[in-house]
Amino acid sequence: MNKIYLGSSKEMPNDKIYLFSKEKPETLENLDPKQLAFIKNQLTKEISVIEMLSNENRMEWFVAVEKNDDCQKMAETLRIQGSKVLAKIKAQKISSVGVINSSNMDRISLPFVEGMALADYKFEKYLTKKEDAPLKEVAIEDRITPEAIEELQAIIKGVFKARDLVNEPQSFLSATQLSKEIEEMGKEAEITISVLNKEKIESLEMGGLLGVNKGSVAPPTFTIMEYKPKNAKNKKPIVFVGKGVVYDTGGLSLKPTPASMDYMKSDMGGAAAVSCATYAIALAKLPYHVITLIPATDNRPSGEAYAPGDVLTMYNKKTVEVLNTDAEGRLILADALSYADQYKPELVMDVATLTGAAAIAIGTEGAVIMGNAEDRYFEEIDRAGYNVHERSVRFPFWEEYGEMLKSDIADLKNLGGREAGAITAGIFLENFTESPYIHLDIAGPAYLHNEKNYLKKGGTGFGVRLLFEWIKTRSK
Ligand code: BES
Ligand code: ZN
Ligand code: ZN
Repeated sequence: MNKIYLGSSKEMPNDKIYLFSKEKPETLENLDPKQLAFIKNQLTKEISVIEMLSNENRMEWFVAVEKNDDCQKMAETLRIQGSKVLAKIKAQKISSVGVINSSNMDRISLPFVEGMALADYKFEKYLTKKEDAPLKEVAIEDRITPEAIEELQAIIKGVFKARDLVNEPQSFLSATQLSKEIEEMGKEAEITISVLNKEKIESLEMGGLLGVNKGSVAPPTFTIMEYKPKNAKNKKPIVFVGKGVVYDTGGLSLKPTPASMDYMKSDMGGAAAVSCATYAIALAKLPYHVITLIPATDNRPSGEAYAPGDVLTMYNKKTVEVLNTDAEGRLILADALSYADQYKPELVMDVATLTGAAAIAIGTEGAVIMGNAEDRYFEEIDRAGYNVHERSVRFPFWEEYGEMLKSDIADLKNLGGREAGAITAGIFLENFTESPYIHLDIAGPAYLHNEKNYLKKGGTGFGVRLLFEWIKTRSK
């Protein structure tokens, strides 16, 4: 949908969705007694979306909302209800619809419309036949401000952009193209962007990024986004770092296909999350200083490719013995984390589709989080995650795991053991920044093989709403 706006009762679209309290359907106005009796009868059958034809021959949907003292659960239920009602609207090929909060509960239209909007996504670029009658507009009638709607639109824009980037195949989305896409976002949202090219990356001696890129025919990029509004609440920036592996074949430690290589265009899901969260934050003009770093390349075998056994000298001069070229994400992230220290950040946080182990451990329901930052940061991110239903679970970060990364010939090796694979990846990265550090592994939720409520198959945009929500609470 192109537009979400605050409508007034006089000029709402003809087709309408009424949100009402399941416990109090009487708050629905302008119904005749027969209609109200029908609604009550449907409620006894546990039907929560009631479809009716209005007296003017227009579609009306009455959505029963159950009050829940757990606001986060309630918000998620509303998002899911929004996505279900969207399917009904689409079946009717309706182009504009009004959503009216007819209940005594505050602001419930926002998560409902958020669910509708998030569900109304399709990656159509490569389809010759596009959707013929899309939903264009949603008008909301509720006790909310226009700013709340603008913010929702910024978030949706960010999520859709992240999904698009993840869904783009590597034949289009090279590292260079990813940088261009970020430059475009920067222009639109007034974020300062600089793209370091291969020459510059060489002069900086970013051995991790250059090592992974060796097998590629396409150059790497290192993109820096800075959003620094004049009214920023923070003195020291938060730095985000996103894994931008635009395609991960595993390199010489080649992944088998069909099981594990087919969807590795999604290995820049972390880059998509942090860049598009920054985009949304800037679009919504949140008063917060954020810097976002995206190291990007593909990971391929070739005559030039880096090989197991190689030793790389990283940007911070530490040496790494490469024992598996498929553990490439940590190599490019390491350089970016060291680069982040020059900004003297309050915190540096990376987001990455880093390990299969994280996905195996908790599946697609959330991300794995760990780090050495103070507990309060984890608490803030935990709360933000529950608010937007992009949850994470904290893994231990005990120093003993570091034993598994000892190399005989270099400072570190890029491979832990068979156990605790998600954690040793995080511990590896901790070696490359002096700043308080958090690592978010989104290998599970970044990409779905089955539709789930308001998430489509493919890129989910996981992380955009989480980071936006977190920075929003920090900017207050
Ligand atoms: N990109 C993968 C991780 C991944 C796996 C993301 C599945 C999404 C879904 C990463 O680069 C990788 O290959 N990790 C290896 C690390 C191992 C070699 C230590 C893994 O998880 O198997
Ligand atoms: Zn890999
Ligand atoms: Zn990877």
